[in-house]
Parts: sequence; C-alpha cells; structure tokens
Amino acid sequence: MSLSKSFLILGALYLLVGLSFGIFMGATQEFDLAPVHAHINLVGFTLMTLFGIVYRIIPGLAETTLAKVHFWLFQIGAFFLLVLLFALLSRMGPEATLGPIMAVAEVVVLASIVAFLVNLWQKA
Ligand code: HEM
Repeated sequence: MSLSKSFLILGALYLLVGLSFGIFMGATQEFDLAPVHAHINLVGFTLMTLFGIVYRIIPGLAETTLAKVHFWLFQIGAFFLLVLLFALLSRMGPEATLGPIMAVAEVVVLASIVAFLVNLWQKA
C-alpha cells in the first residue's frame, strides 16, 4: 500500500473511533473526555488526511526515507499520545507517571514533523 493511502486509510479509521467517541459522549452526557475526542479527530483524522493528500499531490515526496521516518514516527507517537491522554484524563494512573511518558510521545510526534518539514524542503 502506498504511503499516501496508508495515511488516508488510518485517518478514516481514527475518524471512525473519534466520531464514535463523540456520539458516546453525547449519549451519556459525559463530557470530561472531550479533549480526547477532539485529539483523535484532529491528530488522527485531520492531520493524517492532510498528510495523505500532500503525499498524493507532490511527486516524489513519498519515495524518500524521510517520508517513511515521518510516517512511522507519527503513527507510533500519535497512538501513544492519544492513549496516554485518555489514561491521564480518566485518571487511570498518577499524573507524575503518565506525564513524563506523554512527553516522550510528544517528542516522537515532533520529530516526525521535523522529518516531514525537511522532506518538503528538499522535494516540494
Ligand atoms: C459524529 C460527529 C461528532 C460528534 C457526535 C461530536 C460530539 C462532540 C461532543 C459531545 C463534544 C463535547 C461538547 C461539550 O463539551 O459540551 C465535542 C467536542 C469537540 N469536538 Fe466533536 N463531535 C463530532 C465530530 C467532530 C469532528 C469531526 C471534530 C474535528 C475534526 C471534532 C472536534 C471537536 C472539538 C475540537 C471539541 C472540543 C473539545 C474540548 O472542548 O476539549 N468533533 N464533540
């Protein structure tokens, strides 16, 4: 599967989860986890869909090692970021433990965006 399609398919899967989360919040009138819903939709769906479109329309952008680095770091970082945000806001563990792990996930996501930026700089 192409990098672009992988981003688009995974984005749509995150949208499915994010929307279900939103519907569940509305049905239960329980809005404490609204930031988790928002981040699943925005980081999971909106960003990944944008990446999928960018890799589709710029020739050669998806063929580089930097593109693969961007894809994998973003998948790993974003997944852990969302799971940890959920754990943090639903008080599944102490903030002192979850916070530093979350910081690692944030740095991984940031590193993926650096790879994206350098790739764009060189190829776009
Ligand atoms: C079936 C579709 C959706 C449903 C049922 C839904 C439901 C909700 C609900 C119930 C809330 C909480 C409102 C409150 O706190 O009073 C919310 C907040 C929010 N939603 Fe959605 N939503 C949907 C789609 C989306 C999409 C597609 C996005 C973005 C791409 C999005 C982004 C947000 C944001 C940014 C917030 C505010 C979060 C916060 O206050 O921390 N939602 N949504």
